[in-house]
Amino acid sequence: MNIHCETPLDYPAISEVNILAFGQENEAKLIEAIRYSNRYIPELSLIAEVEGIVVGHILFSYIDLVGEETLQVLGLAPMAVRPQFQRHGIGSALVQAGLKTADARGEAIAIVLGHSQFYNRFGFEPSVNYEIESPFAVPEDFFMVKLLQSYQKKYKGKVVYPPAFDRV
Ligand SMILES: CC(C)(COP(=O)(O)OP(=O)(O)OC[C@H]1O[C@@H](n2cnc3c(N)ncnc32)[C@H](O)[C@@H]1OP(=O)(O)O)[C@@H](O)C(=O)NCCC(=O)NCCS
Repeated sequence: MNIHCETPLDYPAISEVNILAFGQENEAKLIEAIRYSNRYIPELSLIAEVEGIVVGHILFSYIDLVGEETLQVLGLAPMAVRPQFQRHGIGSALVQAGLKTADARGEAIAIVLGHSQFYNRFGFEPSVNYEIESPFAVPEDFFMVKLLQSYQKKYKGKVVYPPAFDRV
């Protein structure tokens, strides 16, 4: 398996993987909306390829953390693995590769809405542990944060997703 940044040539395959994994088009459309927004980070849209076929994709983009000041932090969403390739470690490898790049860029934290059984293996913890409030009415365990090396205590407040996310 080979993990690298997306290029425009990968866009159709990324849409396909997301539509197959989620069974709907919303996430593929979300990715397109983020790409055309100022929240897009090309280095953090990663694909996993097996024998030249795109089997997985992960996207981290900027979302806002609104406290005493408004800070940009990373939101992990969406992530998808082609159904017949799931449960082979591809999703985990994408998360790890993304977090490594995020750390190298000096990002402070990554935030995700998802299953704690999956994300806690990468060091994600409930965001409430760090006074970071979810904009969603979900159980605390589902809204998680991964602290990166540049984390400082000023990173607290309420998370606000940009308009591109309204569609999901
Ligand atoms: C979530 C997803 C990206 C994981 O990719 P993957 O390549 O299957 O992940 P890995 O093989 O690295 O890890 C599989 C682990 O994820 C867990 N997992 C996967 N989907 C899960 C789910 N919906 N709920 C809980 N756990 C889940 C499995 O329990 C498994 O854990 P195990 O290794 O202890 O058995 C993939 O299942 C997928 O595309 N799902 C549909 C889309 C989706 O829900 N995306 C995430 C939300 S943005």
